[in-house]
Amino acid sequence: MKKILFVLVFIRLFLNASAQFPQPPVNQKQLIIETENTALVLSVANNHKLYQVYLGEKLKNSEDYKLLPTLHEAYIPSGTDNLFEPAIKMLHNDGNQSLELLFADEKVTTDGNLITTSILLKDPKYPVEVRLNFTAFQKENIIKTWTEIKHQEKKPVIISNFASSMLHLDADKYWLTQFHGDWAKEMRMEESQLTSGIKTIDSKLGTRANMYQTPVFFLAKNKPADENSGEVIAGTLGWTGSFQMLFEIDNSNSLRMISGINPFASEYHLNPNENFVTPEFLFTFSNMGKGQASRNFHSWARNYGVLDGNGSRLTLLNNWEATYFDFDESKLTELFGGAKELGVDLFLLDDGWFGNKYPRKDDRAGLGDWQETATKLPHGLGYLVEQAEAKGVKFGIWIEPEMVNPKSELYEKHPDWILKLPNRDEHYYRNQLVLDLTNPEVQEFVYKLVDDMLTKNPKISFIKWDCNRMMTNTYSAYLKDNQSHVQIEYVRSFYRVMERLRAKYPKLPIMLCSGGGGRTDYGALKYFTEFWPSDNTDAYERVFIQWGYSYFFPSITSCNHITSMGKQSLKFRTDVAMMGKMGYDIRVKEMTEAELKFSKEAVQNYNRLKDLIWKGDLYRLVSPYEEERAVLMYTSVDKSKSILFAYSLHPRAFGQFSPVRLMGLDANKNYRMEEINKMPNGRSRFMAEGKTFSGDYLMKIGLTLPNNSDLTSAVIEITEAK
Ligand code: GLA
Repeated sequence: MKKILFVLVFIRLFLNASAQFPQPPVNQKQLIIETENTALVLSVANNHKLYQVYLGEKLKNSEDYKLLPTLHEAYIPSGTDNLFEPAIKMLHNDGNQSLELLFADEKVTTDGNLITTSILLKDPKYPVEVRLNFTAFQKENIIKTWTEIKHQEKKPVIISNFASSMLHLDADKYWLTQFHGDWAKEMRMEESQLTSGIKTIDSKLGTRANMYQTPVFFLAKNKPADENSGEVIAGTLGWTGSFQMLFEIDNSNSLRMISGINPFASEYHLNPNENFVTPEFLFTFSNMGKGQASRNFHSWARNYGVLDGNGSRLTLLNNWEATYFDFDESKLTELFGGAKELGVDLFLLDDGWFGNKYPRKDDRAGLGDWQETATKLPHGLGYLVEQAEAKGVKFGIWIEPEMVNPKSELYEKHPDWILKLPNRDEHYYRNQLVLDLTNPEVQEFVYKLVDDMLTKNPKISFIKWDCNRMMTNTYSAYLKDNQSHVQIEYVRSFYRVMERLRAKYPKLPIMLCSGGGGRTDYGALKYFTEFWPSDNTDAYERVFIQWGYSYFFPSITSCNHITSMGKQSLKFRTDVAMMGKMGYDIRVKEMTEAELKFSKEAVQNYNRLKDLIWKGDLYRLVSPYEEERAVLMYTSVDKSKSILFAYSLHPRAFGQFSPVRLMGLDANKNYRMEEINKMPNGRSRFMAEGKTFSGDYLMKIGLTLPNNSDLTSAVIEITEAK
């Protein structure tokens, strides 16, 4: 009897256990998404669901992927058996809130370096299709992923989660590096270990992605992310609006990473047959730390992510910090002379040139009225363009076409063109409001203002496109009952306008700016040649800010201006600006003779070396987050030339920095050292000046750099000696 009881209890326990721990579904078909080094492996199981079985370094034998278990459904829908954060959530016409996604079809297309895998999932009971797309950039080791959602129910369905990407990882520990800040404090890097539950990085700003949080991250497996070793994923979302990146560690210590448009205030009513296309999420996997991940992003961005990424850029003199709103024709033409003297390519006229009924003499009026202020510029823009040309420089101009001051003719004429709540007070930020770009009339207005200006002044060679506020107290008179579409439609409309402008002006350089670095994302950079990283141009601060951006964006996109904001020497400020796309925002006539001579030489050096800086491989050698100095270098692809930048950042008195090992050189080549950007009559304290070393020596022993006292810098040109 006892024996029978024991057997019954055992059977009961066994049945309970198998209900609690069901057998994992069995792999039936592998879908392998690979670049040269990375693999993302999906698998269709015997229950017809799609699973992610692997993400990491590519295996030699693809048969080995078949041994991996099907633990994680690839793109998890809400409402059935999922107990954690879903990738997609849908409310059907009949009130059912569930979605089930089964594998239906797969299509692979190859286009040279790009292999695109498109996987169709269908709900077995409802006419809903979800398409997961992955483009694998073979050489750059970047995977771009986006999702399409469609249905054929009778009426709209409501989608309230719509991830671009869901990725799964398994490790003992996970370390997340995020970048956050505020106006003038962009890209502060912080790393923390993830704990069980959800960590979200997001923004709800509407017109921009970046400000408090930046849509980029590193996720390191098992130990904190290192520059040159360890397994890391680097990810970013190409979306110029509210985003969400969510990291959840579940009960089994597995991590799911969900990235996409922020579902915040954005329930989307999806019409039958409308294709909802999410923005692109871009990621790379590196088993050589953050450095390699950055280089992957840089070469991908130059080849595919940024407008004219392999082209050239114009050096410039901007008048913003030199004059602010206080200028007139004669002041400007004098500045043109300064630009010429420095040897830069272009003069950029910033804010303050427009508005007549409400002249733009500060940021309280005129925004929206894009006519030259007659009292300030009686001869108009055309005259300025001519004058600049006569002085031998090109002319560029600042606009902020998506915004309006309440003190403007535009505001008086078109109150319905403005995003603002009907029953609430207007809420200002920098004394301005956002235009309702979802309204096609507003899109036309923005397009026309740029097009008319360029048609009238075809010699305008550069635009700085600003966007100085986010959405608050938002309501669109145009979208009426669809207020929860405003955030998404705004960004789509912005892209629509840019698409039209780029069709007509495909290569005109346009700087993306948003009250400092509010718009720094690969959604917008398809249409822009460069971005403004921050209104903080203090060179000490800029070392950190530019360092932060360098993890995800190539130096050709980062506009670094030499200004009078910081207290550092002109040399220090110049050297900091030189590590990206260099420009000036300074009164040239206030420079001493020595400073002018130094600056002219620096511009010449820059012109000689800019291609190496923009297109070379970046090696971050010493991080300002780890030492009281920052050292980095760019090396040409053929390893024949490098340029090294070193900045000392408030070291202790009498401190001595140890030699820095270089990277990315050819061990078998010899290299000659030369310090450049020296102040006139300045003696080089660089002990290696003029000497030649083997790449092997430089990478194993390293260089003693000349700058070890407070806020000094050095630029070393490293050339293969034949
Ligand atoms: C923003 C930009 C600045 C400058 C001003 C002009 O703050 O970031 O560079 O153009 O607007 O108002």
